[in-house]
Parts: sequence; structure tokens; C-alpha cells
Amino acid sequence: MKHLLKLLDLSTEEIKEILDLADQLKYEKKHNIPHKLLEGKSVGLIFQKSSTRTRVSFETGIYQLGGQPLFLSARDLQIGRGEPVQDTARVLSRYLDGIMIRTYEQKEVEDLAELGGIPVINGLTDFCHPCQVLADLMTIREKYGKLEGLKMCYIGDGNNMANSLIVGGLKMGMKVSVATPKNYRPDASVLEFASAYPEFFLTENPLEAAKDADVVFTDTWASMGQESEKEERAKAFAGYQVNDMLMAEAKPDAMVQHCLPAYRGQEITEKVFEEHADEIFEEAENRLHAQKAVMVTLMAGK
Ligand code: CP
Ligand code: NVA
Repeated sequence: MKHLLKLLDLSTEEIKEILDLADQLKYEKKHNIPHKLLEGKSVGLIFQKSSTRTRVSFETGIYQLGGQPLFLSARDLQIGRGEPVQDTARVLSRYLDGIMIRTYEQKEVEDLAELGGIPVINGLTDFCHPCQVLADLMTIREKYGKLEGLKMCYIGDGNNMANSLIVGGLKMGMKVSVATPKNYRPDASVLEFASAYPEFFLTENPLEAAKDADVVFTDTWASMGQESEKEERAKAFAGYQVNDMLMAEAKPDAMVQHCLPAYRGQEITEKVFEEHADEIFEEAENRLHAQKAVMVTLMAGK
């Protein structure tokens, strides 16, 4: 594994190895066992969109591993004034040991990987959010002790989170059902990948998707970059809320996951969110451990 660009590129074994390492790093962190596996290494964090969790977990993660982060906001970089990402990549690869990038187009991340010559980690694009879903799989596995055979459902927009959850869940042997409105389906390439799995189910009916689910996922109805569509999206997604009625379809002890930020009263009710807050904030914590595992996998020994 040279980069983490999208989960479609990873084998089941590679995902499992990252999750196992993440569990180990979490254990070591809790027991104050130092793990300076990236001593002297630098990771550049390029952000073309906002972030709370991704930025802070990467910054503290590399520090705990003995390395240093460089927070590179697109507003301050020459990228913001039009320098091509390809040139930026070729320069940064001479200073850094790895790059994490959060941006709009998936192609930009793929180009960066091709030209940069150092490991590139996708910290969210319009297409996918692999770091988040590795943390999600880790969190589910912590609760149930396994992933295989569990049913995950995703309710809402067929966005970056939906795309990565479908791929990650299916690769790890989960049943995945997704409910989105007709015009907001997951990406065609992801649906094509999923069509090979009888455990995949796509519907417009959220209650049908949630039936007997072990894990219920949702995400914002308007992602970063879609702010101008907020009103029209609120109408289109009105029936796609994770609320008591929907949770009644899932298994009685089903867990709820949300990558955050959450918009209470829209994709999830305040009540369901607070009842499952422990699981949701454990998921947020696991971003730290999962991303440390990704950085170690890609950057140690290089
Ligand atoms: N879930 C997530 O990626 O959060 P941030 O946008 O705060 O990084
Ligand atoms: N789908 C959301 C996820 C935020 C972490 C977005 O892209 O804004």
C-alpha cells in the first residue's frame, strides 16, 4: 500500500491490517506505552475545506508518533492563488514524508499521488472519506468484536460518506443497505462495485433499509461545497431522518454512527443523537488511532 486515496484501492487484508494496528496503537496510548514510530518525519496537511476532527487528529497523531505536522491551508498556500496542485506536490515531496489532503475533486488527490512520489492520504473529497470509514469500522468492531455478517444501514445523501461506507462495509463482509432519494444516489462507480455483492441493497425507503440493522449511519444533507443547495436538499431529504421511528426498525441494541458535524433536527434527532452520544464520540476519538495506523503503514521505514 503506497497511498490511501480511496477504499476501492485496498484489499480486505490491507483494511484489516490497518484496523489491527489502530487497535494496538489505541491500547498503547491508553497505557502510556510510547510508540514513536515516525520519529523525525513530517506530514503536510493541505486543507481546501474546513475541518475540526481531521486536522486535530492528524496533528496530534503525528506528534504522538514522534513526527511533526505542517498545517497548510489553501488560503495561505500559493495553490490558493492558482499554483497547480501538480507543482505543489512536486515541491512538497522534497520536504515532507507524507501529505494529507482535503479537497473537492478526487482527481486532484490521485494526481498528487502520481506526481508527488511520497505517500498521499485522502482526508476527504467530494467522492469519498476513507480515513473516517476506517475509524467507523474500528468502532463497530470494538463493540461487536467482528464486522462480518453485521448489517450496516446508511440513511440520507449518497455522498462521500455513503460511497466509502458501502465499499468499506462490503469489503469487510458486512451487509450494507442504503436509503437515499432517487436523485441523490451514491456514485455510479460505487454502485457498480456493490452490484457484485448480494449483501448490498439500495432503496428509497429508509425504514426498509433500517430493518434489523446492527449499525445505523447518517450524515449531513448538505456537504461542504453544497451550501447553496441547503433549502432544496432539506426538502428532498425530509423523510430521511434518523429518529425513533427509524430506530424501531433496527435491532434493539443497534449502534448509531455519525462522522460529525451533526445537524440535530435534520438528518438526526437530538434524542437519538444524545442516546448514542458515547458511540458517536468514540467514533470521533477513533479517527486519531485509525489515522496513526494509516500514517505508520504508509510512512514508517521510508
Ligand atoms: N468527520 C470529519 O471529517 O470531521 P471534520 O470535518 O471536522 O474533519
Ligand atoms: N459529507 C460531509 C462530511 C463531513 C465530514 C461533507 O463532505 O461535508
